[in-house]
Amino acid sequence: MPLLDTLNRPLRDLRISVTDRCNFRCVYCMPKEVFGPGYQFLRREEILTFEEITRLARIFAAHGVRKIRLTGGEPLVRKDLPLLISMLSSIPDLDLTMTTNGALLPRFAQELKDAGLKRVTVSLDSLDNAVFKAMNDVDFPVEKVLEGMDAAAAVGLAPIKVNMVVKRGVNETSILPMARFFREKGHILRFIEYMDVGHTNGWRMDDVVPAKEIIQIIHEEMPLEPLDPNYRGEVAERWRYKDGGGEIGVIASVTQAFCRDCNRARLSAEGKLYTCLFSIKGHDFKSLLRGGATDEELSAGIAKVWGSRADRYSEIRSENTIPLPKVEMSHIGG
Ligand SMILES: C[S@@+](CC[C@H](N)C(=O)[O-])C[C@H]1O[C@@H](n2cnc3c(N)ncnc32)[C@H](O)[C@@H]1O
Ligand code: SF4
Repeated sequence: MPLLDTLNRPLRDLRISVTDRCNFRCVYCMPKEVFGPGYQFLRREEILTFEEITRLARIFAAHGVRKIRLTGGEPLVRKDLPLLISMLSSIPDLDLTMTTNGALLPRFAQELKDAGLKRVTVSLDSLDNAVFKAMNDVDFPVEKVLEGMDAAAAVGLAPIKVNMVVKRGVNETSILPMARFFREKGHILRFIEYMDVGHTNGWRMDDVVPAKEIIQIIHEEMPLEPLDPNYRGEVAERWRYKDGGGEIGVIASVTQAFCRDCNRARLSAEGKLYTCLFSIKGHDFKSLLRGGATDEELSAGIAKVWGSRADRYSEIRSENTIPLPKVEMSHIGG
């Protein structure tokens, strides 16, 4: 029996943040002014061990979770990540995926595949080096991310999805070049509306390029038609090129909130369970794990948290909710 929350939404999808650290400083996620030298990242003993993560993941799976996405921070900066993948891949009937900035994929793609990872989503915000470097803020070149995607494709971590966050006045001009390029490549490009996750990125509604506008820009050059969702609760709205040139997606969490079907829980690197990307507070499972809780107690804890869930932040976003001290994206996982 799947767990249902107070709005009858089942728990199906778990995002696990394996680290709060990252080798990039994307301006919309980990701005240098906040995450620069002196920022206190979690210490090793504060983050969940692979055994703790796997133990919780098994219990989530028993509660109906069918998909686990590893994220962060940058998941590939966590030491020995392929080992965690191999531990998680022993859980039956699980779709195991990862979101990465791609920088370390050339080094790890084969090991990840061998360990049981099924697919990857790679983030890339522009094909223009000046734009991309201004967004990742660590002078990281586009070519290296493309090499990472090629490495993933070569070992069969496919189909590859590409995430592009669109920020007004920053990378709108990259929308069409990205669409043309990934249509040719055969990767599924997904445009993400810039979101007010966390409280350090200085988000303003004016910075958001609405998904409708993105679709219109592409449609004028390469006609599109809508596609049905793959399953209920899918975050990306799917579109297909009318000439058969593949599909794209838009994640319109700001302008077309999809809270109604949201079936995702998030486990932070330090073992807090969040039931919404825009949460202020998480539920501490590390203390339970380290305090000797049995599997039954952990399972009951998860059921209690999900059973009382009523989040629908995106539907009720307002001037009053934007400045709330929400947990950072790098902490909770995208
Ligand atoms: C937090 S990252 C973690 C995984 C990995 N480091 C990466 O960048 O793919 C996950 C996804 O969230 C997206 N993201 C981060 N901050 C965002 C924001 N403020 N609005 C929309 N998407 C955001 C990133 O672009 C990325 O695709
Ligand atoms: S979006 Fe990903 S790559 Fe960029 S700073 Fe956040 S965690 Fe790092």
